[in-house]
Amino acid sequence: MEKFLIEGGHKLNGEVSVCKAKNCVLALLAASVLTDELVIIKDCPKIADVVSMINILESIGVKTKWVDGDIHIDSSNITDHEIPETLAKEIRSSIFLVGSILGRIKHAKSVFPGGCEIGLRPIDLHLKGLKDLNVIVTEEGGYIYFDGKNARGNNIHLDFPSVGATENIIMAAVLTNGVTVLTNAAKEPEIVALADFLQVMGAKIGGAGSSTIIIEGVKKLNGAVFTPIPDRISAGTFLLAGAITGGEVCVKNCCPKHMSALISKIDGVAGDIKAYRNEIYIKGYKKHKSVNLIETQPYPGFPTDLQAQITALECVADGTSIVVENMFETRFKHVTELLKMGADITVRDRAAIIRGVKNLHGAQVSASDLRAGAALVLAGLKAEGVTEVINVKQIDRGYYNFEERLRSLGASIKRVDN
Ligand code: EPZ
Repeated sequence: MEKFLIEGGHKLNGEVSVCKAKNCVLALLAASVLTDELVIIKDCPKIADVVSMINILESIGVKTKWVDGDIHIDSSNITDHEIPETLAKEIRSSIFLVGSILGRIKHAKSVFPGGCEIGLRPIDLHLKGLKDLNVIVTEEGGYIYFDGKNARGNNIHLDFPSVGATENIIMAAVLTNGVTVLTNAAKEPEIVALADFLQVMGAKIGGAGSSTIIIEGVKKLNGAVFTPIPDRISAGTFLLAGAITGGEVCVKNCCPKHMSALISKIDGVAGDIKAYRNEIYIKGYKKHKSVNLIETQPYPGFPTDLQAQITALECVADGTSIVVENMFETRFKHVTELLKMGADITVRDRAAIIRGVKNLHGAQVSASDLRAGAALVLAGLKAEGVTEVINVKQIDRGYYNFEERLRSLGASIKRVDN
């Protein structure tokens, strides 16, 4: 197992460019199965979760090829409708494939994707939505069987604006006869990007980005060439790296309009921010005030995927903050590790009360999931002494060359074998 060795206390300064969004690319890869023509996803990040999703596509007969940083996908000859158990348990987003396989060949088989360190992650909303499309869903021996030969458009209401359930239902509906009206849909930018991609392929879909999405099923979808949106969570992570070290960081090739919740929380509190069309700049304060309250919400609220990272920032704020994690049941695994670094945090159910300390100190800490791992790296950049972050393969799931990008900003960080 590999680990990061980080020597804290270095201000980060300079420019860093973010990759295309992991959570956009994973949905686009799943949707590429909906056509038998060539799909090209431009500037595809070669991160672990993307590679895992590509392996799942290959396991059902999809042909893929990396060409100069783009991924070419040929789903003309799908040979299987079953998502392999080992691969399905590797990444949550495997469940999105059910909708696209159903849309394309009208039947699918999968296992329940595993829960993970951040919560139970049930799929009841996915299953209810597919059943509302008249897909016959049966469970036997840990497998779920989907029969969509009589699927038809319908009105579907999500009890919760689940990102994955919204994406799954969209992908199942675009090739299904009739009109589907999805209400209480997720509004994340990744949903808008998926709808844009499907429209390029010839889908009839409107309302993405709002809570009501309308889809009119078509007979066939064409191939497409598409560029995913920038990764707003990676961009936020680098912005917080500038804030926690009191440095001056410019994040390029990002989309500040997708980052309003973070910007409004830290601008003038942890640093001075200037946002432009596709770059954002922060001049971090030497000692920053606390943000007081963070409550994670569905987009456009504060993103749960930046909760661990801002928790790390608040550990060294001047004051006390409360972070409420409304999206996942157990997304405070990073707290145990931050306490090893001298943080002063109390967790009560969904709330973490963080009393800022003068500074953290180095320790050996473990990454429980990719965002918790990123948070521990941020803490290590600030802490006195050397911090060892183990289990960095979790970070590699969603951050491409994370340590190299931080080193380019002046961080003292290196990857070594455990
Ligand atoms: C997506 O996960 C993202 N993953 C997550 O990013 C992100 O944290 C999450 O959306 C919320 O923004 C991908 O896009 C691959 P949800 P998803 O369904 O779709 C509950 C990262 O770090 N729920 O919106 O699984 C669920 O338990 C990852 O990049 C049900 O109850 O999230 C959670 O409490 C982590 N039943 C809430 O909804 C369901 O059927 C939000 O989950 C589905 C979800």
